[in-house]
Amino acid sequence: MDPFVVVVLSLSFLLLLSLWRQSSGRRNLPPGPTPLPIIGNFHLIDMKNTRQSFSNFSKTYGPVYTLYFGSQPTVVLYGYEALKEALIDHGEEFSGRGSFPMLEKVFKGKGIAFSNGNVWKAKRLFTVNTLRNLGMGRRTIEEKVQEEAQWLVKELKKTNGSPYDPHFIMGCAPCNVICSIIFQNRFDYEDKDFLSLIGKVNECSKILTTPECQIFNVFPILLNYCTGSHNIFFKNFTYIKSFILEKIKEHEESLDVTNPRDFIDYFLIQRHQENGNQQTIYSLDHLASLVTGLFFAGTESTGTTMRCALLLLLKHPHITAKVQEEIDHVIGRHRRPSMQDRIHMPYTNAMVHEVQRYADIAPNSMVHEMTCDTKFRNYFLPKGTTVIASLTSVLQDSKEFPNPEMFDPAHFLDGNGNFKKSDYFMPFSTGKRVCVGQSLASMELFLFLTTILQNFKLKPLVDPKDIDITPIGSIFSTIPPTFQMCFIPI
Ligand code: HEM
Ligand SMILES: *[C@@H]1O[C@H](CO)[C@@H](O)[C@H](O)[C@H]1NC(C)=O
Ligand SMILES: *[C@@H]1O[C@H](CO)[C@@H](O)[C@H](O)[C@H]1NC(C)=O
Repeated sequence: MDPFVVVVLSLSFLLLLSLWRQSSGRRNLPPGPTPLPIIGNFHLIDMKNTRQSFSNFSKTYGPVYTLYFGSQPTVVLYGYEALKEALIDHGEEFSGRGSFPMLEKVFKGKGIAFSNGNVWKAKRLFTVNTLRNLGMGRRTIEEKVQEEAQWLVKELKKTNGSPYDPHFIMGCAPCNVICSIIFQNRFDYEDKDFLSLIGKVNECSKILTTPECQIFNVFPILLNYCTGSHNIFFKNFTYIKSFILEKIKEHEESLDVTNPRDFIDYFLIQRHQENGNQQTIYSLDHLASLVTGLFFAGTESTGTTMRCALLLLLKHPHITAKVQEEIDHVIGRHRRPSMQDRIHMPYTNAMVHEVQRYADIAPNSMVHEMTCDTKFRNYFLPKGTTVIASLTSVLQDSKEFPNPEMFDPAHFLDGNGNFKKSDYFMPFSTGKRVCVGQSLASMELFLFLTTILQNFKLKPLVDPKDIDITPIGSIFSTIPPTFQMCFIPI
C-alpha cells in the first residue's frame, strides 16, 4: 500500500477511536461543550483569561460542567454551592489529587500535595501534628514570625527610601519562616546558600506558570521528547532537594531523640521508631520530598500574596491611611505587632482578608481527582476523574461581596465596622485537601503587613491612578505584575 494511504488510514482510525472513547465516556458526565478529537475543548478556552472563560461556560452549562483538556474529561465545580457540596459534603470522594505531570515526575508520589491514598493520609497527619507540636498557631511560631518581621524591616531600611522592586525580599521572609520550622534556623538575607535557594524556588515557580508548562500537563508525553524550560525546572528542583538532603544528613548526625529541635528531627525520631517496617513512609527520600514540598507551598504563595498586598495598598492610599491610623491607635510605634492585636483591629484584619480575596492567587486551587466512583447530583463521576474547583467563583461571588471587582475591606466589615467572617472566604480551598499552612500563612500576612505599615510610608513612583494592577494569570496561578516602590521610614 502507498505509505500516504497508510498514514491517512491510521490517522482516521485514531480519530474515530478517540471520538468513540470520548462519547462513550461522556454519557453520565456533567454537560459541557462538545470536544474535538485530540485537543478536546482547548480551542474554546481563552488561556489568557481562563477566569472569564470558566465563568462563561458556567452561564451556559450550569455550576457543574465538563471540559476536555486533550482527551481527558475534567469536571469543573463553579460557585459556592457546588464547591461546598463536593469538597465538604462529599469530602472523601473528592479528596484525590489530580495529575500534574511535571510535579509528579519530581515528587514521585512522595510529598503531601502530590500524593494520594494512604501515603497522603499518613503524611498529612504527620505534618499537621508536627506543625502543631512545633507551635503552629501558638506563641512559639508567632515569635519566629515577629522576629522575621523585624529582620524584614531592617532590610527594607537599607533601601533608604529609593525606588525598589520588593519582589525578591517578599519571598525571603516567608521562606525564612519555613526554614526556621524545618531546619531550626533562619538565614541572613545576604547568605549565599539562602539566596541561591530562593533563586531556585523563584525560578521553578516562574516556569510552572508558563504556557509551555500547561501544555505539558495536558500532553505529558511531550515531556519526554522536548527540551526546554522543563529541563531547567528539573535542574533547579534537584538543586533544592539536594540542599535539603544535605541538611537532613547534618540533622541525623546531631540528633537527640529526647529533644527534637525542628520538623526534620520529629521525622527522624519517628523513623527510628518505625525501624524495620518495610512499607514505612519514614524514609529519607520521603522526608526530602515532604520538606521540599513545604518549601514550595510555604514560600511562593505567601510571597505572592504579600506582593499583591503592597501593590493594592499603593493603588488605594486612603485604605492604607486607615490601616495606619488603626495601627497607631492600637499598637503605637514602639511595640511589635502581635496576633493578640488582631481582635482590636477589625479594619486591618478586613484589609488582609480582602487582599487574599482580591488577589485570588490560586484561582482553581490545585487539581483534584475522584477517589472512587461517585454519584454527584444527577451525574456519575468515575474514579480517577479530574476535578477543578473554581475558587474564583466563590471569592468573586457578587451576592456575598457586592462589586467583587473592587478592592474594598468593607467586604469583610459589618455596618458597625466590626470584622465580618464569611464562609465564602476560601483562598486556601476547603475540605480534606485544605491548605495545611492556613493558620501559619494568616499569621504571617497579618504580622508582616502590620509591621511594614507600622514602620514605613509606602510611596508609589507614579500617580496611584496610573498604577497597573492587572495580574498575570494562568489556570492555576495569578501573580501581580512586577513593580517598584519606595519604603519611606516613618
Ligand atoms: C497565602 C498563602 C497560601 C495560600 C493562598 C495557600 C493556598 C493553598 C491551596 C489553594 C491549596 C490547595 C488545596 C486543595 O487541593 O484544594 C494548598 C495546599 C497546600 N498548602 Fe497552602 N497556601 C498558602 C500557604 C501555605 C504555607 C505557608 C504552607 C506551609 C506549611 C502551605 C502548605 C500547603 C500544603 C502542604 C498543601 C497540600 C495539602 C494537601 O494536598 O493535602 N501553604 N494551599
Ligand atoms: C465571554 O462571554 C462574553 C459575552 O458573551 C464574550 O463577549 C466574551 O468574549 C467571552 N469571553 C471568553 C474569554 O470566553
Ligand atoms: C536554574 O535556572 C537558571 C535560570 O533559568 C538556569 O540558568 C540554571 O542552569 C538552572 N539550574 C540550576 C542547577 O540551578
